[in-house]
Amino acid sequence: MSDPEITDGFVDTEAADALGPPLPGELDAVSPWWMSGMPLDHEHHRLMRRRQVPIPWEKTTAGQLTTAERGRLAETWRRRAAAEYLAVSTFAVLAIDLVSAAAPADVLSHCVRSQLDEIRHAELAIRMVEIYGGKRISPPPGMSRLPEDKTQTKLAQAVANTLLVSCVSETYATTVLTATRDLTTDPVAHAVLTSIYSDEVMHARLGWSYLRYGLERGGDDVRAAAAAMVPRALRGVANVIERERPIGEVTDAVRAHGLMTPGEERKIYSECVREVLIAGFEALGIPCGNVADEYGEEWANAA
Ligand SMILES: [Fe+2]
Ligand SMILES: [Fe+2]
Repeated sequence: MSDPEITDGFVDTEAADALGPPLPGELDAVSPWWMSGMPLDHEHHRLMRRRQVPIPWEKTTAGQLTTAERGRLAETWRRRAAAEYLAVSTFAVLAIDLVSAAAPADVLSHCVRSQLDEIRHAELAIRMVEIYGGKRISPPPGMSRLPEDKTQTKLAQAVANTLLVSCVSETYATTVLTATRDLTTDPVAHAVLTSIYSDEVMHARLGWSYLRYGLERGGDDVRAAAAAMVPRALRGVANVIERERPIGEVTDAVRAHGLMTPGEERKIYSECVREVLIAGFEALGIPCGNVADEYGEEWANAA
């Protein structure tokens, strides 16, 4: 990449991006009703463009669904919009933990980038609410909190909270998104899930990388803090999966728009706990005991 051009004393970051000219529609707002209306839109689109996967919005097949099916999908995407929006604050809090622990630049850039990604996921989700439900919503306010233990070192706390946010939640998100995408045939839902999936992979990678980094630099206290977080983190995701679902049947048509049954999600999580999460933690030398047993066959079949 050539040096960014200097224009009027400012670095032309668009030239630095080396992304080439925007494609038609690429700098349009995903959910224009959610914008502030202030002169921030150009820079917003430029930031978001960095990770944009084109979504063929006009190809939605939502019109072929029944009212009940559309309602089920609208409510699901409304909940997803709220969760994605809240995740912006989760990574903001995690960034504070990481800076407190003197995390290196690449770890921080990934964490801060994740906030931008979660804003875009919220934008995509509220657009999906409009597609299925016909309503233009904004996500509700919220504020994530992460566990704080003043007796721990900053490194131990940052590692434990990264394990919670990135290794467990984001890794599970990638496994469930892959499975959901495989059954999605609606082109818009498929493209939206693909866009979100490609970011969540990076959010999970941030976690596993920092976990290893922290374990290599920290002492037994870091390992112990990570081990203590494992059951707590697994329970956190399980609570979400066990939660009551929106009213409405998950018909084959609904599945084709990117929705699985709670039973299917339980099976995926149960496998993910055993084969990915616990296997990964133990490979890094974090003792997990028999915590996976709680999410064994009985739990997986309980929906
Ligand atoms: Fe997300
Ligand atoms: Fe994420």
